[in-house]
Amino acid sequence: MITATAPGKIILFGEHAVVYGRPAIAVPVTQVSAQVTITETGGDFVIEARDQNRTARLSELPDDDPIAAIVRKTLTALDETATAGATLIIQSTIPIAGGLGSGAAVSTAIARALAAFYKRELDAATISSLVYEVEKLHHGTPSGIDNTVIAFGKPVYFARGQPIETFNVPTPFRLAIADTGIPSPTKIAVGDVRAAWQADPAKYESLFDRCGEIARQARALIESGQPDGLGRLMTDNHAVLREMGVSCPELDSLVEAAMRGGASGAKLSGGGRGGNMIALVTATSEGCVREALLRAGARRVILTTVKASNVKRDLSLA
Ligand code: PMV
Repeated sequence: MITATAPGKIILFGEHAVVYGRPAIAVPVTQVSAQVTITETGGDFVIEARDQNRTARLSELPDDDPIAAIVRKTLTALDETATAGATLIIQSTIPIAGGLGSGAAVSTAIARALAAFYKRELDAATISSLVYEVEKLHHGTPSGIDNTVIAFGKPVYFARGQPIETFNVPTPFRLAIADTGIPSPTKIAVGDVRAAWQADPAKYESLFDRCGEIARQARALIESGQPDGLGRLMTDNHAVLREMGVSCPELDSLVEAAMRGGASGAKLSGGGRGGNMIALVTATSEGCVREALLRAGARRVILTTVKASNVKRDLSLA
């Protein structure tokens, strides 16, 4: 039996604007993950998505089914034309449509498991580009940040069309990640931002510029060992995302609760309109912030540390 996993992720700064070429920062979240096992069984190639209560033969699934798509694309990349008789089981602790990269993590774990099943190596860049093709099925115009941060499993500074970079985190910092419990498909928020940008390009270009500038400043603070300064940037980024129209009352109230609980900054993370938000906490404040978030209605609070990646700065050369 082969087992492979992939972590969740959060976007620290720059969501939405990243679709329009501005830089964004994302980090893996290892407290949640997708896990895939493949067992040789003979007969058909069967896919079992346990969390969705779904079992199907690969041969019955259409090309635009995201799970069938990553299986087929990975088999092509491995030059395996005929599928072996096997059962592929998907399990995930990453909430679906919550901004934690569930789709990209499931795809990454499937690609890794298939490569291991056929005793082959697929490097992170290849897996990332296979997953990107499938992300297009989830929403038409993905920036590529989810597949990159999850397939490489490192903090990334990402700008569309630029070499992907990781960055140093000389001073680790703590985040609280709180779930509104409201599923929010990225496709809808991204589509609405596109329509609003088309209706008022000048306004939206300037909002995107502000997000890009915040992401640049955030990277400089992280790299110079001053993560305490990120709180103000998070709160500024949340205000811009509200102006963009991608927040919602539940996200705003969790952001306010985190601040009341002692966080030094907070923002929505990912597509918005639901899903998750993040808050900058410390060992001293995290207990109170967590309590405040739960009291304000958060379904789940994850505490995570963002720390050094120890990798080459240009991940495309890795
Ligand atoms: O909801 P998520 O975390 O998958 O967020 C996607 C981030 C966006 O910038 C909104 C879209 C994208 O493709 O980058």
